[in-house]
Amino acid sequence: MKEIDEILLEVKEKLKASLPLEELIQLRNAYLLKKGKLQLLMGKMKDLSIEERKSFGKEINDAKAALEALFEEKIKEKEAQKLNEMLENEKVDITLPGVSHFSGYQNPFFKVQREIEEIFIGMGYEVANGPEVDKDHYVFELLNIPKNHPARDMQDTLYIDEETLLRSHTSAVQAHVMQNSNGKPIKIICPGKTYRRDDDDMTHSHQFAQVEGLVIDKNINLGNLKSTLELFAQKMFSKDAKVRFRSSFFPFTEPSVEVDVSCFNCHGRGCPICKGSGWIEILGAGMVNPNVLRMNGYDPDVYSGFAFGIGIERVAMLRYGINDIRKFYQNDIRFLSDFNKKVED
Ligand code: PHE
Repeated sequence: MKEIDEILLEVKEKLKASLPLEELIQLRNAYLLKKGKLQLLMGKMKDLSIEERKSFGKEINDAKAALEALFEEKIKEKEAQKLNEMLENEKVDITLPGVSHFSGYQNPFFKVQREIEEIFIGMGYEVANGPEVDKDHYVFELLNIPKNHPARDMQDTLYIDEETLLRSHTSAVQAHVMQNSNGKPIKIICPGKTYRRDDDDMTHSHQFAQVEGLVIDKNINLGNLKSTLELFAQKMFSKDAKVRFRSSFFPFTEPSVEVDVSCFNCHGRGCPICKGSGWIEILGAGMVNPNVLRMNGYDPDVYSGFAFGIGIERVAMLRYGINDIRKFYQNDIRFLSDFNKKVED
């Protein structure tokens, strides 16, 4: 019994000092675990009488409970202290100003390309793609422009070798799609880059982009083309936009037209944007030439179709009042942020 009291005193003495948590736990184990000091005293039981055993056992259990409570209290105290220290040390000053990060802006070119795509997807078109490095066969021959045809002069083409070139218009995709469609109806747009030999200035670029459109089915007529382009102009420029056709020439369409949209700025009255005419030229189009249909596996007596080619930069320049085509490619952050502010307003 004396030994038990001594152990209790010993622990109380040790706990007077403020021990770190780890040491407290070690100490607890040293006294209370199986081979701890109290447990070892149990070994002495066998030397006692039955009567003595009872009271000795009770004494040990009480001492155990007392020690457990003691350690528990101290450990809790330490844990609370540790938490408080952590809270104190890791305090965040929420009044400090934040670090602002610079974020990029969307180039108006892509914004407009996306808008054009959405408009036509909304009319049931699928988006097709074709190669930018293509064969003469697709870029010219299947589009009714044989070798040495004077119409080749309309486009200054960048050749890689005699048969291979950087496509000078997305119309090349028309030929690819027709060749792959086994004479079935087609309704596609193809947005993509095109290349021509040109000196870059405010309105010219050796690399630019077009959205080609091609519809082939039975009974497709010029009226379908006009209403399609009018709907496009109304969604793109202004609700009351009108389009007008002026006759033109492309080897792959017959008849061919240049398409003007009524000026969305002055609504036809005449202003600097439309140079006083009330109309702005936006694209080339026409009914697919019967020769092109035939060369690509369609019977022109059964099928007809229309095609159009929209210049993406041109639409973007008109839509957002951008006066220099080179700005789309220069990644000048001032232009991009300026433009984005304008759009937000
Ligand atoms: N491919 C013509 C161009 O680049 C545009 C066009 C496309 C015209 C489709 C008619 C039909 O100028």
